[in-house]
Amino acid sequence: MYLAPWRSPLALALHRNRSLVYARYLQLATVNANGAPANRTLVFRGFLEGSNHLMFVTDARSEKTLQIAHNPQGEVCWYFPKTREQFRIAGLLHLVDHDRENLAWQSSRRATWQALSDPARAQFTWSHPGQPRTTESTFSRSAPDPSEPLPNFCLLLLEPLSVDHLELRGDPHNRCRYFCQNNQDNDRHWLIQAMNP
Ligand SMILES: Cc1cc2nc3c(=O)[nH]c(=O)nc-3n(C[C@H](O)[C@H](O)[C@H](O)COP(=O)(O)O)c2cc1C
Repeated sequence: MYLAPWRSPLALALHRNRSLVYARYLQLATVNANGAPANRTLVFRGFLEGSNHLMFVTDARSEKTLQIAHNPQGEVCWYFPKTREQFRIAGLLHLVDHDRENLAWQSSRRATWQALSDPARAQFTWSHPGQPRTTESTFSRSAPDPSEPLPNFCLLLLEPLSVDHLELRGDPHNRCRYFCQNNQDNDRHWLIQAMNP
């Protein structure tokens, strides 16, 4: 597997910020059906094995899944407070829902479900997210089967196509862009360009 060149500065940022639990929270922007941006916080769940795809989990009933079906483009904005650096990672979103026919992705979906805590798994039994809260709404604390994901549990993958890394340390600041390109053999490779901050 070709490890993209931005993986190494990102791994270093994750390592140097490992004491901050919120350094694994980032913002994911998508585009809604009217072309307006939609933005929310997600927890980074690591990289899909053997790839540069970032992994997240989400509920199939959430609004972002409709946005992604309509337009798979997305961008995460990720700030690391301790080292004062930002990564903006843009690319294609792939929703791995219960009937996605990709064995490797399904196996990662199951492994990610199994690695969640009981309270995190319980949230997938709650009433429809984003719908009005009524007396019928239920929010159980009892955890579902830890071995088999509920049908509404989704793995969400971001396949990066460009990365913009800004470091505020240093005077002047440093900024670097990474672009994913296909060569004639349809092999992917990354170009790196230092930018004015
Ligand atoms: C710290 C934090 C972590 C969150 N982590 C997730 C997550 O991993 N997955 C998720 O779907 N929503 C997560 N959420 C909730 C989302 O920000 C959002 O409210 C929810 O996914 C509904 O978004 P949507 O209507 O755009 O689909 C988190 C919220 C916060 C504040």
